[in-house]
Amino acid sequence: MDMISVLFLAWIVNSIDAFNDFPSLISANASMAVVIEKNLFDNKAEYRDVVRNIYNFIANITREEMHMSDIDVHVFRDTDIDSFRDYTALLSVATCHQMWSLHNAARKDEIVHLAITEQDCPRLPDSEGVSVPLVSSGKELSQIFFDIRTADALFWNNVNILHDDTFDRDTINRVTKAISVSLPNKRFNLVSRALFAYKHTDSERNRRYYIKEMLENFHVDQLGKCFLVIVTIDAAADVMEAAKILNMAQPDSQWLYIITDTVTGNSTNITSLVDLLSEGSNVAFIYNATNSDAYCNNSLMCHIKELVAALANALKLSLMTEIELYSHVSDEEFEIIRLSKRERRREILKLIKTKLVEDTFATGGVCGKCLFWRFASAITWGNFFIHGKNTAHLIDSGSWFPTLGMNLTDVIFPHIVHGFRGIDLPVATYHNPPWQIISLTDSGKKEYGGLVFDVVKYLAKKMNFTYSVLSPASNRTIKFTRNESETEVVLTSTTREIPPEILDMVVGKRVLLAACAYTVNNRGRKEINFTLPIFIQTYSFLTAKPGQLTRALLFAAPFAKETWACLAASIIIMGPSLYLIHKYSPSNAKMSGLNSSWRCVWYIYGALLQQGGVYLPHSDSARLLVGIWWLVVMVVVATYSGSLVAFLTFPNMDSAILTVNALLANKNRLTWGFPNGSYLEEYLKNAEEEKYHILLKRAIIHNATQEPEIIKKVKAGKHALIDWRSTLRFLMRSDLLTTKGCSFSLSTDKFMDEPIAMIIAQDSPYLKIINAELHRMHESGLMNKWITEQIPTKDKCSDISATQSVNERKVNVTDMQGIFFVLFMGVTGSIFLLCCEFYWHRRQVAKRRKLIQPFLS
Ligand SMILES: *[C@@H]1O[C@H](CO)[C@@H](O)[C@H](O)[C@H]1NC(C)=O
Ligand SMILES: *[C@@H]1O[C@H](CO)[C@@H](O)[C@H](O)[C@H]1NC(C)=O
Ligand SMILES: *[C@@H]1O[C@H](CO)[C@@H](O)[C@H](O)[C@H]1NC(C)=O
Ligand SMILES: *[C@@H]1O[C@H](CO)[C@@H](O)[C@H](O)[C@H]1NC(C)=O
Ligand SMILES: *[C@@H]1O[C@H](CO)[C@@H](O)[C@H](O)[C@H]1NC(C)=O
Ligand SMILES: *[C@@H]1O[C@H](CO)[C@@H](O)[C@H](O)[C@H]1NC(C)=O
Ligand SMILES: *[C@@H]1O[C@H](CO)[C@@H](O)[C@H](O)[C@H]1NC(C)=O
Ligand SMILES: *[C@@H]1O[C@H](CO)[C@@H](O)[C@H](O)[C@H]1NC(C)=O
Ligand SMILES: *[C@@H]1O[C@H](CO)[C@@H](O)[C@H](O)[C@H]1NC(C)=O
Ligand SMILES: *[C@@H]1O[C@H](CO)[C@@H](O)[C@H](O)[C@H]1NC(C)=O
Ligand SMILES: *[C@@H]1O[C@H](CO)[C@@H](O)[C@H](O)[C@H]1NC(C)=O
Repeated sequence: MDMISVLFLAWIVNSIDAFNDFPSLISANASMAVVIEKNLFDNKAEYRDVVRNIYNFIANITREEMHMSDIDVHVFRDTDIDSFRDYTALLSVATCHQMWSLHNAARKDEIVHLAITEQDCPRLPDSEGVSVPLVSSGKELSQIFFDIRTADALFWNNVNILHDDTFDRDTINRVTKAISVSLPNKRFNLVSRALFAYKHTDSERNRRYYIKEMLENFHVDQLGKCFLVIVTIDAAADVMEAAKILNMAQPDSQWLYIITDTVTGNSTNITSLVDLLSEGSNVAFIYNATNSDAYCNNSLMCHIKELVAALANALKLSLMTEIELYSHVSDEEFEIIRLSKRERRREILKLIKTKLVEDTFATGGVCGKCLFWRFASAITWGNFFIHGKNTAHLIDSGSWFPTLGMNLTDVIFPHIVHGFRGIDLPVATYHNPPWQIISLTDSGKKEYGGLVFDVVKYLAKKMNFTYSVLSPASNRTIKFTRNESETEVVLTSTTREIPPEILDMVVGKRVLLAACAYTVNNRGRKEINFTLPIFIQTYSFLTAKPGQLTRALLFAAPFAKETWACLAASIIIMGPSLYLIHKYSPSNAKMSGLNSSWRCVWYIYGALLQQGGVYLPHSDSARLLVGIWWLVVMVVVATYSGSLVAFLTFPNMDSAILTVNALLANKNRLTWGFPNGSYLEEYLKNAEEEKYHILLKRAIIHNATQEPEIIKKVKAGKHALIDWRSTLRFLMRSDLLTTKGCSFSLSTDKFMDEPIAMIIAQDSPYLKIINAELHRMHESGLMNKWITEQIPTKDKCSDISATQSVNERKVNVTDMQGIFFVLFMGVTGSIFLLCCEFYWHRRQVAKRRKLIQPFLS
């Protein structure tokens, strides 16, 4: 117990200690460690000069900037330092490698790290320090790419670098390295890169020719679709033109142009490139906006001065806030609520950044202003549908200064990240359930639903657009339905035709796509393209549900005909056998019951029905025979009654026609057919298997007007209707609702696939990305989910017939009519025999009289 409380106390003291480890700015002057590495300097003299003067230099700056307090400066000549525990800030002037190893120590101690380093060095994270690479003019490209990568502004895993051969090898090499080298704290993700140089000529024609030749032989499939083009402004126009002509600027490719010549003055003007942007392309520019006339000082001392001044200013402001706080609270409270070391670092860094931005944009010019680059992104997606003409434009997406690094105000490729950027696009549709359903809400607004709109809604979410629907004021009367049960059943599959107005809208590019289900066919191929199929329809056929077999002869059903014959034969054979054994047995005592073959047959028959004879033979041989017969009788009777129960319980159904082969086998009993205009005709004609040709040859093609008759014929079992499986299921379902029973059976055979897709204008750039999204919808199973929601995929009839059979267990008169008929026949037969016997008797008597008469007379 004591132990625990002691430990607890120790922990509290410790944590308070840790919290207040670092003194507030009020109680102690800030301290700064200065590390200057020799390797960064080319000549020893400069190094010695800097080290000698740095102390005074910093003191002079702080004196100017802060009046109340001071910065204690400690200059290290050695770079091997483990801990900066006692310092507020670290100023390092070191090579890239050394800067990062110093930063590891500085980060541990949570101090502000100000670094001046060589160029081509990844910058420190914004939350931990400020680093300024000493970039010399003309060599800034690689640093820009380091900064882009540090900011995670490009998501490329492959890149094709195009440039003309005027750029020296060194520049290109450094850019390539900046793109592909692995960075601290960043995942390495570049998979491949390829370099292409084209020949530079002064003649515009030749230049165009070389560019075109290079792009023409380009293997996009292998090399990817991310292009980095390092060019002058004139060549940029040529490359853009070539890419446009070769159709390489597509929504799934990205073109980043680095334009190196400065745009100040009138020599170059980025806006003029807008005309070369094509609809749906992803193009961004990074261009040199350096004002070469402005005064510029890029010396080390200038950067040190700028950074230290910013730090001093930040410390001053931070101290003022602290004093303000101190004056309002007690000492104890102040100790608790004042900033921790990490919070202080964050605050100071923020203040330094603000000061640097201010300095950079202030007139007069300081070291950070020597170079200035700007980023511009093209907005090209969906302009076509909005304005009716191509009105691509550029937006400013950021800037780059050597001191501040990159400042992105938007993403570099807005369409890659944000798709259509939330714009409103037109789509065309018409009412065609269950594919597209236009319904009216209670407030009279049109609502769009159905399978195709499930897809379009998801597409809009994924590609960041909203849509407004255009539907032709068609002559076809559209029935608006308010709820599901009223939906009239469309018998024939209705995706073979599409209103011509919709086709016009698609071909005229007035809509992004037609949100209509349309069977993929060759008719409109010249003007439109189909998207990936959203659904594959298969064909099946519908026949009448097979009836129950008649149960009149149910009592005979348990045994097959052969069994019955065998049984009859055994009775007929057993009778005489018994008679013979009985007769020739030595111990035969005259017994009236068995002394004729005929009587023996009756005896055996009686035994079969378990009636037992009155007589039992005396001889053992005959008894054995009779005994064995009883055994046989027991087995036969048990088998018969068992099966009879089973036959009574389960109705005996006729076999259904469920396959194409079965249908063809029944061709004399029933006809078949499919609706007029179905693509089935085409499919069957081109089918390989012979049976489909027969199917087509004997098929009756019927018109829409004949539908009610056809259904009646199907119900009567005289016709089989071939159509989409889903349509047939609809038919079965609606029939189930009206007749409360199943009158159809659907074939198990599915044949011929009919793909259904949406349509889009022939050369629409968006087809590929829409297809990619559709593919993803299929893969993720979303499409299946929507299909099962909108289209019945199970027919309920099979379940229902099972429940019906359970209800039918009672044995009714029809089941028993057979045996009553046999009884009737028996009675009739015996009456007939009685008559015969009377007649026979009469004749016998008459004969006797005739014989007797002469004797009497
Ligand atoms: C800060 O430094 C100045 C000048 O060196 C000194 O006058 C002042 O006392 C110091 N302040 C603290 C709190 O140590
Ligand atoms: C610092 O200021 C003093 C006088 O204000 C000046 O003599 C000295 O040269 C300055 N030192 C540096 C390195 O600028
Ligand atoms: C950018 O423009 C400046 C001023 O014209 C020039 O000095 C510098 O070399 C240019 N940068 C590149 C990479 O060409
Ligand atoms: C830029 O254009 C303006 C007017 O179009 C012209 O007065 C000026 O001389 C041009 N400057 C250069 C450097 O060409
Ligand atoms: C660039 O050219 C367009 C016309 O082509 C002009 O309207 C615009 O002012 C120019 N911009 C600059 C910065 O010269
Ligand atoms: C650049 O700035 C530093 C510090 O402000 C100064 O010492 C140096 O003389 C300046 N160089 C030029 C060329 O103006
Ligand atoms: C980035 O640029 C925007 C707009 O130009 C500006 O308001 C903002 O202060 C800049 N931020 C930084 C950190 O430079
Ligand atoms: C859609 O675009 C808007 C406008 O660019 C953007 O603000 C939004 O983040 C984007 N939404 C998605 C999901 O990308
Ligand atoms: C409707 O039908 C009439 C006559 O058949 C035709 O002139 C008209 O263009 C049709 N309207 C539409 C919107 O199809
Ligand atoms: C669009 O249709 C044309 C003509 O049928 C065809 O050549 C082209 O490959 C189709 N485009 C796509 C992306 O499928
Ligand atoms: C179907 O209709 C077309 C024209 O509407 C007619 O030519 C054809 O004979 C009809 N077919 C049948 C089987 O009635």
